[in-house]
Amino acid sequence: MRILVTGGAGYIGSHTCVLLLEAGYEIAVLDNLDNSCEESLKRVKEITGKDFNFYKVDLLDYDDVNEVFNKEKFDAVIHFAGLKAVGESCAIPLRYYHNNITGTLNLCDIMAKHGCKKLVFSSSATVYGDPHTVPIKEDFPLSATNPCGQTKLMIEYILKDLYKSDNEWDIAILRYFNPVGAHKSGKIGEDPNGIPNNLIPYVSQVAVGKLECLSVFGNDYNTKDGTGVRDYIHVVDLANGHLKALEKIATKSGVVVYNLGTGTGYSVLDMVKAFEKASGKTVKYKIAPRRPGDIAECYADPTKAREELGFIATHTLDDMCKDTWRWQEDNPNGYK
Ligand code: NAD
Ligand code: UD1
Repeated sequence: MRILVTGGAGYIGSHTCVLLLEAGYEIAVLDNLDNSCEESLKRVKEITGKDFNFYKVDLLDYDDVNEVFNKEKFDAVIHFAGLKAVGESCAIPLRYYHNNITGTLNLCDIMAKHGCKKLVFSSSATVYGDPHTVPIKEDFPLSATNPCGQTKLMIEYILKDLYKSDNEWDIAILRYFNPVGAHKSGKIGEDPNGIPNNLIPYVSQVAVGKLECLSVFGNDYNTKDGTGVRDYIHVVDLANGHLKALEKIATKSGVVVYNLGTGTGYSVLDMVKAFEKASGKTVKYKIAPRRPGDIAECYADPTKAREELGFIATHTLDDMCKDTWRWQEDNPNGYK
């Protein structure tokens, strides 16, 4: 099977490319390198010893995307390409709506034109808003609290409508919980621009001495130690979920929706402790006010993905921290 990976130079995309190549898929990557660089793809080739085509193309450029489909015939697309920073999406919402929604509309239109009607889409647990209870099941009510989350929710509705209009499509919507970690080779990992917003990249930059001190956003939540609880999932487990989803949509599946999480919630302080243990470094932290928009607890019920996809996250919390640390130590400035 030949797979087009949009956003394949990015964090989750690059890890998924490794697994796809190792599993014997032929791939091509389309990315505009807005939030990534070609070095990640060079390293994917180093890790796997396999080659593939890279198209530096923006999904907003209809003709360029169409040209990629003229050049190669794809059996399915894994669609990672999108902008993902929540804070930035509130500051420049139009750019987020245009990039994520128009980009997806272009992609789907071109796929249909070329008879490629199998799609795996990167959604997010953010579509559950502030859930009434945890663990979160796929049939919980959906809502979004920021433009980035809105684009995920809107694209989910668009894809469901697309399927209703044309049952030849098979679409897997994957709702990621909190991806962390890096490939065990230490060659690819998360390379945030500027000061990280997410917890684990921030913690690892404190541990390596690039940042002074972690601010723990709130210790008065109704959780075991008062700090926020999340479902951290190793990026290689997450990537594997995409291979499982591809197998699912290779059969006639229609639209399917799955949580990709571990089912276990860890607090911010759990994560700090685990990271200190894995790295042998002290992570200096202070308690700070809650971050606006944050919720107390968010973790998946992973039963549906286990039963229908055979998806099980196998990496431990220690693996997540050790692999992040190896990537951070070997690449203190990311890919630069
Ligand atoms: P990333 O920024 O590392 O990767 C996204 C890639 O898409 C980047 O390489 C970027 O250059 C590319 N891209 C963006 N807009 C594009 C466009 N118009 N045309 C072509 N390429 C474009 O992000 P990631 O963490 O790998 O996330 C991948 C996907 O998963 C995103 O859609 C993101 O919203 C979603 N997601 C991520 C997380 C997370 O915590 N990382 C959580 C939930 C969902
Ligand atoms: C964030 C996004 C979410 C996205 C997810 C992907 C927000 C509000 N939500 O989720 O849309 O899908 O990333 O990974 O940005 N924390 C600190 N100090 C820090 C950073 C984080 O204490 O410097 C805490 C947070 O309060 C939270 C936990 O760590 O309790 C995890 O935060 P983060 O990594 O930003 O992820 P989410 O907020 O879950």
